[in-house]
Amino acid sequence: MDFKNDLLLRAARGENIERYPVWLMRQAGRILPEYRAVRNSLSGFKELVETPALAAEVTIQPVDHLDVDAAIIFSDILVIPEAMGLEYQLIEKVGPRFEKTIKSEADLVKHGQTDFDVEDRLGYVKEAIEITKKELNGRVPLIGFAGAPWTIFCYMIDGGGSKTFSESRKMLYQNPTLAHELLNRITEVTIRYLKMQIKAGADLVQVFDSWAGILGNNQYNEFGLKYINKIADAINEVPVTLFAKGAYAALPNLANSNCNTLGLDWNMSVADVRKIVGENKTLQGNLDPCALYSSHSEIEQLTNNMLDSFKSKRHIVNLGHGVYPDIDPEKVKTFIKTVKNYEIKN
Ligand code: CP3
Repeated sequence: MDFKNDLLLRAARGENIERYPVWLMRQAGRILPEYRAVRNSLSGFKELVETPALAAEVTIQPVDHLDVDAAIIFSDILVIPEAMGLEYQLIEKVGPRFEKTIKSEADLVKHGQTDFDVEDRLGYVKEAIEITKKELNGRVPLIGFAGAPWTIFCYMIDGGGSKTFSESRKMLYQNPTLAHELLNRITEVTIRYLKMQIKAGADLVQVFDSWAGILGNNQYNEFGLKYINKIADAINEVPVTLFAKGAYAALPNLANSNCNTLGLDWNMSVADVRKIVGENKTLQGNLDPCALYSSHSEIEQLTNNMLDSFKSKRHIVNLGHGVYPDIDPEKVKTFIKTVKNYEIKN
């Protein structure tokens, strides 16, 4: 594939770049009126996710309207539990809800299925990627993604969002065998799913471990890192990004994982992380998503300060977590323009 803009892939591989690439986690949907127009014409979020032509359309919207250097396929991390036999609903203003959760071996057999062809149950993602790639026609790379096993586990055990995910963490103490069994199953399906996305045309894949930060370091090594490492080891076709939100203590271990890029949240300075991680990984991030609530001139200043702290070319610019739904798209554009106008000094 000849790209018109492959900055993202070159930055991920540690190759030379003329300027830093920039995209936003959760850039599709959420902030764009063009997304809401499509979304409101449908029965719900899942219909959009499962209709490949529309999923492709909203995937490309941020490339057209925000001028980002990458597209990320419009889907959700929760399609994996659903494919494994645990259906979810997205309740307006509440978030995802699973009617059933996994509490026992019997639940695991029923709702932790692995014995299926991912193309059968998740073929709509494959099709959405194929359509998106065709329509993008090399303008920018397309990012595929999945949730990390630990984060998916949290939803399958707690049954929805939670501040503490205490049901999930309880299982690590009361029934670690069952926990490992489920984590292994999620990992196996996720690897097959990411390979399907790559075959369909994903140019880079990101694994979102959004709830990495709620575990102590020993537990994260055992129940989190072990499984994202398995995924990173299994994917060699395209660059891999691991985003383990809040897992600072795990950074020295993450630095040894088989990925190209580590995603960072906004709690640590990039300069400090670079000292821990060394030069062999690309770092992605990490402006505080709330910085986009400040004025246009402050956004420019904060973004330039962050860019000044980068001492190498191994960077992909992003926020430290997904863009918040009520951010003014004009503020996002200021962030993106500032990155694009920045001259790399080293
Ligand atoms: O733009 C993109 O990044 C692509 C699409 C994408 C969505 N979800 C679409 C979505 C991606 C990459 C995700 C990942 C995701 N989903 C994560 C990991 C990233 C993170 O934020 O930590 C998690 C934890 C989820 C689970 C999830 N899905 C929640 C908690 C919610 C409800 C809250 C919200 O609005 O995000 C969803 C629904 C969801 N996923 C929406 C979108 C655009 C909102 C649906 C709507 O009402 O239109």
